[in-house]
Amino acid sequence: MLEVRGVSTRYGQISMLRNVSITLGEGEIACLLGPNGAGKTTLIRTILGIVRPVTGSILFRGERIDGLTTDQIVKRGIGVVPEGRRIFPKMTAEENLRMGAFAQWGTTEVAGRLEQIFDRFPRLRERRRQIAATMSGGEQAMLAIGRALMGRPRLLLLDEPSLGLSPLLVEQIFEMIQAINRQGTTVFLVEQNARKTLALAHHGYLLQKGEIVGAGTAAELGESDIVRHAYLRA
Ligand SMILES: Nc1ncnc2c1ncn2[C@@H]1O[C@H](COP(=O)(O)OP(=O)(O)OP(=O)(O)O)[C@@H](O)[C@H]1O
Ligand SMILES: [Mg+2]
Repeated sequence: MLEVRGVSTRYGQISMLRNVSITLGEGEIACLLGPNGAGKTTLIRTILGIVRPVTGSILFRGERIDGLTTDQIVKRGIGVVPEGRRIFPKMTAEENLRMGAFAQWGTTEVAGRLEQIFDRFPRLRERRRQIAATMSGGEQAMLAIGRALMGRPRLLLLDEPSLGLSPLLVEQIFEMIQAINRQGTTVFLVEQNARKTLALAHHGYLLQKGEIVGAGTAAELGESDIVRHAYLRA
């Protein structure tokens, strides 16, 4: 589904990602763990064509996407819940969701997709006319996920979707991610919550200072000294 091959990026003169390679099979949940500043968001932004690789290539469903624009990449079937969720605060919940289907605007499909999202998140149906900024953190997290699903992505990238939520809401968000995956969407999950993430993911990667320093099944990562010491102390 996704293959990142030897990708390096820089911000100006500063090297950020170094020779990063990841592989994600269809139907999987893969996770990316790593401390603050490791380059996790940079990797998401590179997959989306917002940051350009200096070296390496990115393949989605067997075709190179690393030269494409972000909207071309999204139209091929990649959805994103960006870091910080980036909901449109002055728009209503429904307007936010419609933004997620920008590639299909003007088609009759959008209404049907909206209904599907409302079926999945009944809370969003109740709040459809509410201004997004006035919604709770948990509702905004659902909204960001719903918006990403409006484009019917084959691959969903999630950059710390549970950040700042209470444990109960974190639990709900993780359950939603699992349900979305079981219905066929491949998931790439960036998270700080290593324990919960490893319980959900099939396999994953550990990123530190721009480099992949660990990779394996969720069980292998959970056993590795580096993950246990850095992330699973609690
Ligand atoms: N637009 C930018 N210009 C210059 N440097 C940047 C830019 N964006 C990020 N950086 C730097 O790149 C490094 C990696 O940032 P990135 O946001 O990818 O890390 P992260 O792993 O997502 O961290 P966090 O867990 O805090 O979200 C950081 O040192 C950051 O300051
Ligand atoms: Mg980040």
